[in-house]
Amino acid sequence: MDLKDFRRHAHELVDWMADYLEHIEDYPVKSQVRPKDILKQLPEAAPESGEVFEQIFADFQQIILPGITHWQHPAFHAYFPANSSPPSVLAEMLTATIGAQCMIWQTSPAAAELEERMMEWLREMIGLPPSFTGVIQDTASTATLCAILTAREQFSSFSCNREGLRTGPRYRVYCSEQTHSSIDKAVRIAGLGDENLRKIAVDENFAMLPEALEAAIAADIRAGMQPLCVIATLGTTGSTAIDPLEAIGQICRRHGLWYHVDAALTGSALLLPEMRHLIRGAEMIDSFVFNPHKWLFTNFDCSAYFVQDPGALIRTFEILPEYLKTPEDQRVNNYRDWGIPLGRRFRALKLWFVIRSYGVEGLQARLRAHLALAREFAGKVEQSPDFELLAPVPFNTICFRYKPPQIDDEETLNRLNSALLENLNRSGKVFLTHTRLNDRYTIRMVLGQTRVERRHMEAAWELIVREARGLDRKFIERG
Ligand SMILES: Cc1ncc(COP(=O)(O)O)c(C=O)c1O
Repeated sequence: MDLKDFRRHAHELVDWMADYLEHIEDYPVKSQVRPKDILKQLPEAAPESGEVFEQIFADFQQIILPGITHWQHPAFHAYFPANSSPPSVLAEMLTATIGAQCMIWQTSPAAAELEERMMEWLREMIGLPPSFTGVIQDTASTATLCAILTAREQFSSFSCNREGLRTGPRYRVYCSEQTHSSIDKAVRIAGLGDENLRKIAVDENFAMLPEALEAAIAADIRAGMQPLCVIATLGTTGSTAIDPLEAIGQICRRHGLWYHVDAALTGSALLLPEMRHLIRGAEMIDSFVFNPHKWLFTNFDCSAYFVQDPGALIRTFEILPEYLKTPEDQRVNNYRDWGIPLGRRFRALKLWFVIRSYGVEGLQARLRAHLALAREFAGKVEQSPDFELLAPVPFNTICFRYKPPQIDDEETLNRLNSALLENLNRSGKVFLTHTRLNDRYTIRMVLGQTRVERRHMEAAWELIVREARGLDRKFIERG
């Protein structure tokens, strides 16, 4: 493709992109294709000779688009959002066009220095103390892995890096029963082993019980093990439960443990001064992660990782072969050693575009609107005698189930709600997902999509009620 054709097609695609976003509500939110529907339309071998762009783009529309679940659809209420916004997309276009690989300062000084400044902006915006230094990671999973690896190295005086894991004490990591699976994965990758991850019991609000944590640490010490790290969650994936950060911080301080906080979704809510009380005691935290790619209108992927001691992070990952040495090494941030991959995308640009475009006030207004919608939806659930809330609603996620008075058997309720979710998602009008809380099949409704409005929330609620009551009749008729 020459640059003349590139220019023409790029203009066409921008028009398509704007049309897509304008008419996104015409698409089914969740892709309705069946397994292998897409695969069987794709040739088994790569084309020998090049094809014209018109054909490639036509195939994108005919083959690929039906297999897309539309995360930017305002009726996307599943998982947690990966929300985007027009300024973020524009930045991604530039990032892709420039195509810089930003592993070290000299491979694009602007990328390194913009990242440094963006992390300072974000730190201020969410109210973390100035003692924190930030770096962009791809995902929260990677950031948490970095935290555990840094803790492991710091505790072993960097001997695991040198000698491997075969010697030394048995390290223990603690998190609640409700923590995200990325913690399990990080513990495995760090070579610590599933058996050394202790899942601490939670209270009736699904928040970690600090006294159970304290007891587990004490028992491990008595058994000759080495407590290493505690991971608390601000906004668990199941129900956005809030672990008691300050109490957990004090326990970590008392025992000299690494303290990592996973605020993947809800870190964005800390932009709101009224939410700041949630990170009281932040000075006790060693590392903190949140995802602007979840709830700060910035395209996936972009995870903000903050540490109190960047020196420990860098020492954990630093390997400096001759070919990567530069004259500026002592004076600049070479982010190649602030995480796992050497190569790095230019992610700071989209943050810059988003933050400047909305302004802090604009971002706060969107977040407050989402929180208000969530409160309203929760109110509807509470006021309906045949629905019940299954968890508190501190943020934008509502956990609920349909519970008609004539059905009280838990197994039947689980099947009823599973069928309800299936029907809702098959309608193409909404997309919601589920979890299990206290062994109850729980439907989760998340209000965090960039352009979600009251009408979407209300339409979703009406659909849920209609589907549930229709289904209920069928369940009773079938016995
Ligand atoms: C609390 C929590 N932590 C971590 C993650 C993993 O996020 P990522 O996809 O950025 O690794 C999630 C994903 O939803 C999450 O909810």
